[in-house]
Amino acid sequence: MTEAYEWRVDDEVEMRRLGERLGALLRPGDAVLLEGPMGAGKTTFAAAVGKGAGVTQPMTSPTYVLRQEHRGRFRVAHFDLYRLYGDPERPETLDVEGVWALGLDDDLAGGAILLIEWPGPLADEIDAYLRILIRPEGASRRVRAEAWGKRPELILKEWTAS
Ligand SMILES: Nc1ncnc2c1ncn2[C@@H]1O[C@H](COP(=O)(O)OP(=O)(O)OP(=O)(O)O)[C@@H](O)[C@H]1O
Ligand SMILES: [Mg+2]
Repeated sequence: MTEAYEWRVDDEVEMRRLGERLGALLRPGDAVLLEGPMGAGKTTFAAAVGKGAGVTQPMTSPTYVLRQEHRGRFRVAHFDLYRLYGDPERPETLDVEGVWALGLDDDLAGGAILLIEWPGPLADEIDAYLRILIRPEGASRRVRAEAWGKRPELILKEWTAS
């Protein structure tokens, strides 16, 4: 990890604002990994990032389709890998091959902006990414962003300055 930043986000409106500001900075090939317990706000945040990237249609959770593609200024690929765990309590049970079968290579090669919920051990297989950790504190959220790689570091700097 090269750079990290933490916010205290008081409500959902503020959460959406934070996500939209990030979305405005992303381009195809950028990967955002979203972690946090069920109901933390990963989908809420991802939808806001999509909006910031120019998606106008509503972005709902890709729970059952696993990968949902949207069109904004660029393509936005929104993943929810939850159902690909043998046991969601155990990260090592993620069906990593099943994840790659969703078309991650093309997205990472510049086909789309990637927003990935429940990434688990997938982080070990991606060169550069922003890792967002959301921790609920009542209606508030503690949001931590970690830059893993040069380009994510640049995005994080611009994001925190925006
Ligand atoms: N500050 C906040 N930020 C985000 N969501 C909030 C906040 N306060 C309350 N909420 C509520 O918390 C819920 C978050 O749900 P969301 O589907 O985004 O979580 P998730 O992390 O994607 O869950 P899952 O693991 O099931 O995919 C929503 O109902 C939202 O309205
Ligand atoms: Mg979700």
